[in-house]
Amino acid sequence: MALRVVQWATGGVGVAAIKGVLEHPDLELVGCWVHSPGKAGKDVGEIIGTGRVGVTATDSVDEILALDADAVVYAPLLPNPDEVAALLRSGKNVVTPVGWVYPSERQSAPLREAALEGNATLHGTGIAPGGISEKFPLLFSAFSTGVTFVRAEEFSDLRTYEAPDVVRHVMGFGEVPDKALSGPMQKLLDGGFIQAVRMIVDKMGFDTDPKVRSSQEIAVATAPISSPIGTIEPGQVAGRKFHWEALAGGEPVVRVTVNWLMGEENLDPAWTFGPEGQRYEMEVRGNPDVTITVKGFQSEVGGVGPEYGIVGTAAHCVNSIPAVCAAEAGIATYLDLPLISGKAATRLG
Ligand SMILES: NC(=O)c1ccc[n+]([C@@H]2O[C@H](COP(=O)([O-])OP(=O)(O)OC[C@H]3O[C@@H](n4cnc5c(N)ncnc54)[C@H](OP(=O)(O)O)[C@@H]3O)[C@@H](O)[C@H]2O)c1
Repeated sequence: MALRVVQWATGGVGVAAIKGVLEHPDLELVGCWVHSPGKAGKDVGEIIGTGRVGVTATDSVDEILALDADAVVYAPLLPNPDEVAALLRSGKNVVTPVGWVYPSERQSAPLREAALEGNATLHGTGIAPGGISEKFPLLFSAFSTGVTFVRAEEFSDLRTYEAPDVVRHVMGFGEVPDKALSGPMQKLLDGGFIQAVRMIVDKMGFDTDPKVRSSQEIAVATAPISSPIGTIEPGQVAGRKFHWEALAGGEPVVRVTVNWLMGEENLDPAWTFGPEGQRYEMEVRGNPDVTITVKGFQSEVGGVGPEYGIVGTAAHCVNSIPAVCAAEAGIATYLDLPLISGKAATRLG
């Protein structure tokens, strides 16, 4: 019997997750919640740009709560813990890229309670946080002993990110440095990335300071840079780095970094991606040292096709559904779940 799945929100991740559910041999789409009133009442196929799917989207939370379903892929713009608690209490397992990758006891207590009440499980996943920033470095660390340092790093060209309001007003690009540095981004990112660092520290047994150190750096344009938010003028923010570090004896032993650049030219400092270009990179120093480069999640500037990092995020959610449905009630992290893989294409399975 296929597991019955609801998609919550149909943005980039939501649309890709629906396509992923439709392609997965063990899953069946039975419901879809939308935020936009214009999408409510439509067949899901119309929303994802395919033929008829036979599931009608709704903007009614109550309708979704009343549905008989095994799991919800919860992918709205911003998390609403009350919504997640209601879904769990209604007996639905929740997989999500919007948080709870490795929540502290204090952060997760109300949701754990809701999950136990509904005999359901909550699992936070994604790419970063939720994959490259903790799960995959931990997996690769199994090839080394005597580990002294673990690093996960994203190198992305933000010119492919077509969300101009978010890029300017939330991420602070095109602003003066002081405004960007005091903007919401550090706090928004801290929640997830500190959990990622903590997961590595705890699993590997590093004896670190309890506080994960967050820091940020800025590069400004030295000449006009064209970007999806318009021209970034000299002196305005055109590159940002965020770091999260766990320290032992004052030295970082785990570091997660995000490098977001509006191209590689006319920046001060003169940051570049290096010869390997856009990528995710993971490093484990030990016996032996291991470095892993992941390409393919970032689009090329001017390229066509979807944002594959979003598709990968959705796939990571979808592929985890069977394991999450089979897990004990409560909060399940990667440290609790068995190996999660993709599934063979229908024509080969
Ligand atoms: N952990 C990771 O690695 C990772 C990676 C990618 C994304 N994410 C997160 O996943 C979430 C979804 O990303 P996305 O790329 O799909 O975003 P998106 O394209 O902006 O879509 C978000 C969807 O949320 C709904 N929405 C819009 N405004 C809303 C509001 N005020 N309240 C509730 N829902 C609202 C809309 O759904 P309808 O269109 O159905 O109305 C919208 O399409 C974001 O929180 C993002 O940060 C995490």
